Amino acid sequence: MKSNHLLLQEQNIRGYHFKNRYVCAPFDIAKATKEGLVTDELLSIYQQRKGPSMIIVEQAAIAPEGQYRNNLLFADREETLEGLAKLAQRIHQNQQIAVLQINHAGSAADPELTKRELLAPSPVEHPVFKRGTPRGLTVKEIQNIKALFVKSAERAIKAGFDGLEIHSCHGFLLSQFLSPITNQRRDQYGGSLENRSRLLFEILREVRETIGKKPLLLVRLGVDDLLPGGVPLKEGIRVAKRLEATIDILDVSTGLTPPLVLPGPAMLREHIKEVKKAVSIPVIGAGELEDPVIAQDMVKNREVDFIALGRAIMNQDNYVEDLILKIQKQ
Ligand SMILES: Cc1cc2nc3c(=O)[nH]c(=O)nc-3n(C[C@H](O)[C@H](O)[C@H](O)COP(=O)(O)O)c2cc1C
Repeated sequence: MKSNHLLLQEQNIRGYHFKNRYVCAPFDIAKATKEGLVTDELLSIYQQRKGPSMIIVEQAAIAPEGQYRNNLLFADREETLEGLAKLAQRIHQNQQIAVLQINHAGSAADPELTKRELLAPSPVEHPVFKRGTPRGLTVKEIQNIKALFVKSAERAIKAGFDGLEIHSCHGFLLSQFLSPITNQRRDQYGGSLENRSRLLFEILREVRETIGKKPLLLVRLGVDDLLPGGVPLKEGIRVAKRLEATIDILDVSTGLTPPLVLPGPAMLREHIKEVKKAVSIPVIGAGELEDPVIAQDMVKNREVDFIALGRAIMNQDNYVEDLILKIQKQ
């Protein structure tokens, strides 16, 4: 059934067709094997999320030392390709756009699980995850991490994904680089905002060069650390504005601190709105946006382009399909 409802409007971005404005937020469900491979259970969970126009598949680790919890998906080696290809195929069967989020956890990694050294921009304990004091990365190691992001991105596209989302929020490595709390470097990767965001932009440039023009490139950007001395929203907006020239869609969230510390509903509404005002590329917002009245209002006021839902979709089968049916009946 066609509908003129704002939330159900079809969208077109660089030739990719979005059947509505709903997006499945990246949300790790810990259903991969302990080696990070796709399982049948993981496939069937994603296949049941038929409603949203785009599925941003949960974070896949780009390196063994970048794993923050057990049964996390990996995209770090050729062995992961077959499962990722099945996953992209299942998502496409539901006429959805398939995007894979890729990540390195940095000092939020779990050393008990990885059995490897904790690595970060600087030897500063993560203020939220508190895993112990990491070792500061050398420039050579930073270059290597960049290469691993690029390899995983290439693998995801080879597996059939329509695009990539670079994870740069919720306290993981790229948000650690962005934050003056966790990044105390004195070289080209620390100090000014330009230096703190250098790795993100270098990764994006190399990923784009490697995967070519066609795939969608997204960043989930932590625009506010929600901590004194951390990245404030006005700095997050400056990074967002610079991203415009490099990426296709901007996914807005929080930096060192995850958004769920804020009271809902729509706990990031002001953040999303301020970012959207500053950029001209499409913006995805998340954070307890289940109420279609609030979501519709945000779209109507041009505060956001896509509504991402995390917990609701993951906790209830067919959540978005049911929501769409309700909206269509209005
Ligand atoms: C268990 C859990 C796992 C999550 N995994 C990811 C993830 O892999 N990548 C990511 O960017 N955000 C992740 N998030 C954050 C969600 O994508 C989303 O931003 C957050 O839950 C707020 O949206 P909601 O109120 O619709 O759930 C996770 C959140 C939870 C609770």
